[in-house]
Amino acid sequence: MAFFNARNSKNFLMAVAFLLLGIFMSGLEFTGAQSVGVCYGRIGDNLPSEQQVVDLYRNNGIGKMRIYDPNQATLEALGNFPDIELILGVPNEDIQALATDASVAANWVQGNILSHPPMVNIRYISVGNEIRPEDSAAQFLLPAMQNIYNALASANSAILLQLKVTTSVDATLLGSSYPPSAGSFSDSASSYIIPIIQFLADKGAPLLANIYPYFSYIGDPVNIDLSYALFTSPGVVVQDGAYGYQNLFDAILDAFYSAIEKVGVTNMEVIVSETGWPSDGGTAATIENASTYYQNVINHVKNNGTPKKSGTLIQAYLFAMFDEDQKGPAETERHFGLFSPNMQPKYPISF
Ligand SMILES: *[C@@H]1O[C@H](CO)[C@@H](O)[C@H](O)[C@H]1NC(C)=O
Repeated sequence: MAFFNARNSKNFLMAVAFLLLGIFMSGLEFTGAQSVGVCYGRIGDNLPSEQQVVDLYRNNGIGKMRIYDPNQATLEALGNFPDIELILGVPNEDIQALATDASVAANWVQGNILSHPPMVNIRYISVGNEIRPEDSAAQFLLPAMQNIYNALASANSAILLQLKVTTSVDATLLGSSYPPSAGSFSDSASSYIIPIIQFLADKGAPLLANIYPYFSYIGDPVNIDLSYALFTSPGVVVQDGAYGYQNLFDAILDAFYSAIEKVGVTNMEVIVSETGWPSDGGTAATIENASTYYQNVINHVKNNGTPKKSGTLIQAYLFAMFDEDQKGPAETERHFGLFSPNMQPKYPISF
């Protein structure tokens, strides 16, 4: 408090200036260190209240959240804390209506973006999650994204400087991913995803990708070393031209970058919108392996880019905040939580 006992106004102004500088600088550090988010899935019948969940994020220093639908209680709880950045999801089952009727999109934007507390820090709208080319929603995805974008642009175009409309895809869209430089979208996915990549490039938006070394590992445990999937390999496992890969996470992410480059887009960011490892219910699904994965992926993305994008810190969202007892069909789907529904950590994790 002595700091504020300025004897004259000049000292007082200096004190205020230093105080503001300090706040400004600590703000910079905060955003710099905040590359890790956590997905808040709610497919469980025993989860804490939305307000308790937002408090749990804050108490653990988790500065980014992904939600899968515009749950009003979550948005209201977040409205008090603009320091939490949000990816807001549009459920897959809403895509067709948003695509075929612009007024539905205008109402969606009004009800879920513009009318809730203005302090909710929404950075990305993910229209759909893991839509695949054979899904009935696939043909409606780009028009739905366009309608939401247009609704935002006509209601409040300034908001589009910080809020990007995008979608979240999975690695099944890659026909080839090994080595990472050979990454490309499959023939069956191309007609669906390439116009979306072009839309994102046109708007300066990132692509969101769900990346699971766990599923790659259990799909091919003979050829994929567990240590490569868990970030514990002592050295380079895959040498790809000039780039050496010591972990599978980077390899899959760079395969996405290669696929996007092959479409002619070189400067798009890929944000990892989900990554995780189950602690029970299947091959390699143990508390020890899961805690190793989560801590290593946190440490990795906070300090590194991928080999192809070495100058850019990776943005990633861990899947998920809680074990969700109503997910399935695989037993492992119920064991991806960092926390139990009673809000106790399942293993010690430092964010
Ligand atoms: C991790 O998974 C592997 C492969 O299933 C298993 O053999 C190993 O026991 C697990 N490690 C730990 C520490 O749980």
